[in-house]
Amino acid sequence: MSKLRIAVQKSGRLNEDSMSILKDIGISIDNGKDQLKASARNFPVEVFYLRNGDIPQYLKDGVVDAAIIGENVLIEKGQGINIVEKLGFSSCRVCIAVPKSVKYGSVKDLEGKRIATSYPNTVQMFLDKNGVEANLHIINGSVEIAPNIGLADAICDIVSSGSTLFKNNLKEVDTILKSEAVLAVSPVLSEEKQKILDTIQFRIQSVLKGRN
Ligand code: PRP
Ligand code: MG
Repeated sequence: MSKLRIAVQKSGRLNEDSMSILKDIGISIDNGKDQLKASARNFPVEVFYLRNGDIPQYLKDGVVDAAIIGENVLIEKGQGINIVEKLGFSSCRVCIAVPKSVKYGSVKDLEGKRIATSYPNTVQMFLDKNGVEANLHIINGSVEIAPNIGLADAICDIVSSGSTLFKNNLKEVDTILKSEAVLAVSPVLSEEKQKILDTIQFRIQSVLKGRN
């Protein structure tokens, strides 16, 4: 019998809640943290621990069948991937932020400015929608440092508690989108795997109902 391959974030803020929802739906996994793959003991499921940014392509290619992932990552690079369930944890927003001392009236103030971000497609869509042209600098992490080292005038990154912005003397000035963890599914899923997924989704819905 084939197993449903589910990707979860290897490390980072989604990992713990992702593992606990799997546990809550009765999928028990023995994993040493260094393992990149683990099989459930009691269910036809394999869990793959992957980097967030790699998950959309794996879903598109059908290398994994489903994933627990931030909606924001799918908006950035997950065209064609279906979201089948919102999971109600890891809420965040994708925001524009500027140094506290900078005056910001509207998105028009970003015209001609340098914006550092790990979400270039999301920012570009936002700028295009508002008819603004700016220069994007793609950075993969610690984006909030960019204005302080003179690399950018503004940043676009995810904000959760706001503490990273605060510590870096930045203020949130525009919200591009809101996000939470979702269950996403590969566009190429066999019928057999779809059945396993249906069971999982049903169990997730029961667990989420119980949490509310
Ligand atoms: C994420 C994100 C923000 C921060 C937001 O970074 O890129 O920097 O968390 O959370 P907060 O509003 O609660 O401070 P992360 O710590 O994952 O590190 P990275 O950007 O270097 O990957
Ligand atoms: Mg960060």
